[in-house]
Amino acid sequence: MRMRKKKNLDPRMEACAALWVRDPAGMRGRWRELKPDAKALRLELGCGKGRFTAGTAAAHPEDLYVAVERVPDAMVTAMERCRDAGLANVFFIDGDAAALSDCFAPGEVDLIYINFCDPWPSVKHAPRRLTHQNFLRSYREVLRDGGEIRFKTDNRALFEWSLFQFPKAGFELSQVTRDLHAAGVQGIMTDYEEKFHAQGVPINRCVGTKIELPDVPLPQGLAARLADWEVRPVTEEDFSGVLALEERCADFFALGGWTVTADSLRRDLAALPPKCAPSQKHFLALRREGAPRAVLDVVEGYPRPRTLYVGLFLLEPELRRQGNGRAIVSALLAAAKEAGFDRVRLACLLDNKAGHAFWTAMGFADLRWDTLLGEDARPVWIMERAV
Ligand SMILES: C[S@@+](CC[C@H](N)C(=O)[O-])C[C@H]1O[C@@H](n2cnc3c(N)ncnc32)[C@H](O)[C@@H]1O
Repeated sequence: MRMRKKKNLDPRMEACAALWVRDPAGMRGRWRELKPDAKALRLELGCGKGRFTAGTAAAHPEDLYVAVERVPDAMVTAMERCRDAGLANVFFIDGDAAALSDCFAPGEVDLIYINFCDPWPSVKHAPRRLTHQNFLRSYREVLRDGGEIRFKTDNRALFEWSLFQFPKAGFELSQVTRDLHAAGVQGIMTDYEEKFHAQGVPINRCVGTKIELPDVPLPQGLAARLADWEVRPVTEEDFSGVLALEERCADFFALGGWTVTADSLRRDLAALPPKCAPSQKHFLALRREGAPRAVLDVVEGYPRPRTLYVGLFLLEPELRRQGNGRAIVSALLAAAKEAGFDRVRLACLLDNKAGHAFWTAMGFADLRWDTLLGEDARPVWIMERAV
């Protein structure tokens, strides 16, 4: 929502000081101190000018209500509405919904409202939608088990897309309707809702209830996070492409004194740490423009059941130093967590200074020196990080 910069914004904000929480991170885990008898903590994301905020807080005086809005010009109107209505159970955060976990402790929130969030229609902007699974996963962190997200929108395409996001983020859907007010106005309307309803636009609504998040298989979790890449297991079809990539990454193999050949690649595709089964291994090609431009070889459950072991990560030389390596490893860490692992481990050749700096920057710490197992014994740093 674009708004003109309001005149007198600062004095108007100051006049609402009693409702405005300027240090929300300082309230993390302590919000109920603002209303010790609160039955529940309700949170609204992107409250805009606050018609719904004021109406809902007034309708539920037994609950504590916190509204988040990143545009102060809109928020000030919402605060004034609540102040003028004499509401004592509602507070405002002038901030971004992306930072909820900095402001609320795990399980501190009972209910989240998302009303008429910006639709960001272009596919490349989908991660900015407040109902994107990454956002929903971050709301999970602050919602109690069984807590709810109540979502309303006039935008049918956003709604249908969101219905797929909720289950992916561990929310069970209920009360799904594509015409909320078909039989007369239901509940409290927001400013946008009132406008759309008056124009005859049907309002979509659903409720997502937080349930246990099922473990997602690692390759799927990785693919879901790497929208710019096609992630798939290396098969015969990819063999020559992966071999060519390894040849272009000869600098890395030279550090270990290895020469890349079709035989060495076939050996690596089958190689397993001790006592591991082939089903634990994923040798993945990350493709762009129809060819493998990165590879990841990971082994699940080595050396401990909840550790993911990275045997190899190679990135096309011309795609390095542009944030691609960081993006892939960040996605791997998140996918590892989602797949139920709590640590990621790897071995970095002692002579691989650039590699060591990269993994250190990605949060990995040296555990000890060791030598790679097998005939290829080489000195390595064993590095690990929690996820
Ligand atoms: C389309 S308006 C809807 C306002 C209100 N919920 C309503 O239904 O009338 C979306 C609002 O969400 C706010 N917003 C968008 N993204 C946000 C974010 N990441 N964090 C906080 N507020 C956000 C915008 O500034 C805007 O005020």
